[in-house]
Amino acid sequence: MPPQPPHRVRRSADVRPVLKWAGGKGRLVPAILERLPEKIDSYYEPFAGSAAVLFALASTRRFKRAVLSDQNQELINVYKAIKKDCERVIELLEELRASHGKDEYYLVRAQKPADLDQFQRAARTIYLNKTGFNGLYRVNKSGQFNVPFGRYENPNICDVPRLRAAAAALRKVKLEVGDFERACAECRPGDAVYFDPPYVPLSKTSNFTAYHHEVFDDGQHQRLAELFARLAAASVRVVLSNSDTPRTRELYDGWQIDEILVARPINSKTTKRGNVGELLVCSDRMRKPKRK
Ligand SMILES: C[S@@+](CC[C@H](N)C(=O)[O-])C[C@H]1O[C@@H](n2cnc3c(N)ncnc32)[C@H](O)[C@@H]1O
Repeated sequence: MPPQPPHRVRRSADVRPVLKWAGGKGRLVPAILERLPEKIDSYYEPFAGSAAVLFALASTRRFKRAVLSDQNQELINVYKAIKKDCERVIELLEELRASHGKDEYYLVRAQKPADLDQFQRAARTIYLNKTGFNGLYRVNKSGQFNVPFGRYENPNICDVPRLRAAAAALRKVKLEVGDFERACAECRPGDAVYFDPPYVPLSKTSNFTAYHHEVFDDGQHQRLAELFARLAAASVRVVLSNSDTPRTRELYDGWQIDEILVARPINSKTTKRGNVGELLVCSDRMRKPKRK
């Protein structure tokens, strides 16, 4: 049994993501929450990233249980480690914060996760996320993290209240590494799923799908659209976000599709940080969400 944190954290406190993530859903969260049921038996988020929606639902206790999963093993390990022993992760992050600098960044980046224990791996991932260029997660073909140093004045390497609040929120959450389709195998009527896949690219050059060394191609989007329809037919509420492209509209033709304007903060070209249209697809065709 791991040592229990001595610190009391109210689970209903404001729980927010502990990582920055490309495609992070910060600004879209209210519109997504509006489309999910008020009370959910089991909530599934199979493209976890920074898990912005799961943390928002946890802070208002909207689900009884949840399954958070992603194909990225290092990412899920962050959640597993803070759930198991948040204070150990905090201790290691404090050490990294004390020695932070450009040389230290490249030393930490060169470490092989397989040579570290679960908590060191989690602290390494959080540290690289907070101090690397734009909070990106990118690995080369052999799986080695290769994002350059980010020039931040004062990166928030160890946000103690946020880490503790996330650890408390994860108590009722099952964490899994794996493919989105397998993650939904146990969905039952009354459950809800939010899908946030790597987006259909806006153009051939704006492809931002290589979060992992495997690319999320059109075949994967097709497989996801089929799963969406199967879950909806099984009375599971499904909400999905994606870029506003003709292909996305074609894949989800017939479902309720709403256009939402959001600011995109993560983009390597600062000139391209404007508003872009995103789509929210909801399996509940009859429901008309309130317009703000
Ligand atoms: C757009 S991001 C999710 C962003 C997240 N909702 C947030 O708020 O930060 C997409 C995620 O899908 C994951 N992913 C890519 N292919 C996957 C697959 N086949 N199965 C499960 N997860 C996958 C990536 O590792 C990445 O974390």
